[in-house]
Amino acid sequence: MAHYNLEKIIAARTDKTIYCDGDKVIKVMGHSYPASDVLSEALNLASVGETPLKVPKLLEVTQVEGKWAIVWEYVAGHTLAELIEKHPERFDEYLERFVDIQLEVHRFSASRLPLLTEKLHRKIRASGLDATVRYELHTRLDSLPKHTKLCHGDFNPSNIIITENNEAYVIDWSHATQGNASADAVQTYLLFYLAGKIDAAEKYLNLFCKKSDTAKQYVQKWISIISASRLVKAKPEEKEFLLHWANVVEYE
Ligand SMILES: Nc1ncnc2c1ncn2[C@@H]1O[C@H](COP(=O)(O)OP(=O)(O)O)[C@@H](O)[C@H]1O
Ligand SMILES: [Mg+2]
Repeated sequence: MAHYNLEKIIAARTDKTIYCDGDKVIKVMGHSYPASDVLSEALNLASVGETPLKVPKLLEVTQVEGKWAIVWEYVAGHTLAELIEKHPERFDEYLERFVDIQLEVHRFSASRLPLLTEKLHRKIRASGLDATVRYELHTRLDSLPKHTKLCHGDFNPSNIIITENNEAYVIDWSHATQGNASADAVQTYLLFYLAGKIDAAEKYLNLFCKKSDTAKQYVQKWISIISASRLVKAKPEEKEFLLHWANVVEYE
């Protein structure tokens, strides 16, 4: 078991801390973090690492002070979130880049990853919504095309690192699946929306539709399903919004 210097914190969350030691990043999970989640995050990263996409190389899954940890290569640069904060006047340019990278991800597939539709059915079942609404959502999900494109699942500007050479690395593959790209776009739309960035959310979705040549009505068919699926781990302040979207039965 390797020993790491955990003096330099790069990000702290409630249930995990991300450290940097030289050319390595160590993501240390909290004590209650299920081992299966740790191993699936590592497996996802390893699987995506087998595509031509630029992702940090997985180095090790280990234990640090009795807690699970995943170790991968450090990528020097700035996240798109940091760049947007630093240069808000360049937002449109960064958003273009953001969508281009997501479309690049969707070009690939990774057959080891879980199927998005199965994950969504499971989350609808656990959503706490009443049986009538759940039935509607399961039926709607079954009626939507089942693709097997690589979906990041948490595609947001903090999960993209732009290097000094202007290369884009996509990180944080814990939610990756194989599924329909429009569902992945709706995840991103909701991430902007839930962060209070409503204008960015709308701009993002319009740009995604334009660049992927997808009808907005088609993408919007996923909103109720993705909202319902997010109820399982929603923060209290997100619940009302998600419930509203999950219960919307008709868009057309
Ligand atoms: N390989 C890496 N190189 C440089 N910074 C990284 C790397 N991996 C993660 N980070 C930094 O740590 C932050 C959190 O890592 P991430 O894997 O996205 O964890 P979380 O699940 O908490 O979002 C990222 O937003 C980024 O700033
Ligand atoms: Mg992240």
